[in-house]
Amino acid sequence: MDAQAAAGPEVTFPSGEERPALGLGTWRLGEDAARRAAEVRTLRLALDIGYRVFDTAEMYGDGGAEAVLGEALADALRGGLPREQVFVVSKVLPHHASEEGVLAACERSLRALRLDHIDLYLLHWRGGLPLADTVRGFEALLRRGWIRLWGVSNVDVADLRELAAVPGGKACAANQVYFSLTQRGVERDLLPWQRVQQMPLMAYSPLDQGELADHPALREVAARHQATPSQVALAWVLRHPGVMAIPKAGNAVHLRHNWTAQQLVLGDEDLALLDRRFPAPRGPVPLAMR
Ligand SMILES: NC(=O)c1ccc[n+]([C@@H]2O[C@H](COP(=O)([O-])OP(=O)(O)OC[C@H]3O[C@@H](n4cnc5c(N)ncnc54)[C@H](OP(=O)(O)O)[C@@H]3O)[C@@H](O)[C@H]2O)c1
Repeated sequence: MDAQAAAGPEVTFPSGEERPALGLGTWRLGEDAARRAAEVRTLRLALDIGYRVFDTAEMYGDGGAEAVLGEALADALRGGLPREQVFVVSKVLPHHASEEGVLAACERSLRALRLDHIDLYLLHWRGGLPLADTVRGFEALLRRGWIRLWGVSNVDVADLRELAAVPGGKACAANQVYFSLTQRGVERDLLPWQRVQQMPLMAYSPLDQGELADHPALREVAARHQATPSQVALAWVLRHPGVMAIPKAGNAVHLRHNWTAQQLVLGDEDLALLDRRFPAPRGPVPLAMR
């Protein structure tokens, strides 16, 4: 498939804001100083290819991933890329998610990212601190202009309902969860619930951390489209309305393949085969996590 293909589908946030449905993950970046320059180059290339959504977290490389992303973004912004075209997502660790703690964590993240605001700031997973405290912290960040939107990650419907009942909790703009061909539990309750709220579902590990790259069932579908198994896995996630996918890719070939997967349209026969090989769960399943 042609690497220069145009951008693909978009998702709409509750505010009406539209953003590309394909982003780029950064887990495992920023862990080794010897790899830093190469990682910055890869992210810079991603920006050149057209990626505009970037997912990171204070946890990744203990701030190292944010720093690598910050360096690549700074270069692109210096080169004239308008800041408002980029959508940067970062996450606060649950044990930092008190009202005061989120302020300190966000300040550290902004410094590492070299940005004056984060577009979407997520609670990485639910910990022991009260959701009401975290929401108050997020509201303070909104007032300061340090974040534009906030959301959660690794949260299922029951916790989202609880969050919606907390003062200010209905402003939750996104939920980032594990969603891939092998992890289809969210299709049953969570994704439909989020669609009703017009709350995008961000699919992490859409390639099962690379495990789907050589799957025989995917090879069969891929061959029909002159595509790769990973492109099929990604196209399958991206075909769900309201879903944003954030695969991590560490080299130019993977970046380009994933970018062009936006144009891959799976037909009825492809989908039927994938459903047979990767059946949706028949009953409720606990939310998968990596
Ligand atoms: N909220 C959370 O709790 C949570 C949890 C997990 C992940 N995440 C986020 O989601 C992002 C993506 O998830 P992930 O990193 O766990 O896994 P993933 O995106 O499913 O898979 C990444 C792996 O797939 C390989 N890959 C990428 N594109 C490929 C292609 N076209 N062909 C073959 N292999 C390919 C990558 O190899 P190369 O690096 O060699 O390209 C890497 O090993 C993370 O980076 C992170 O930002 C969030």
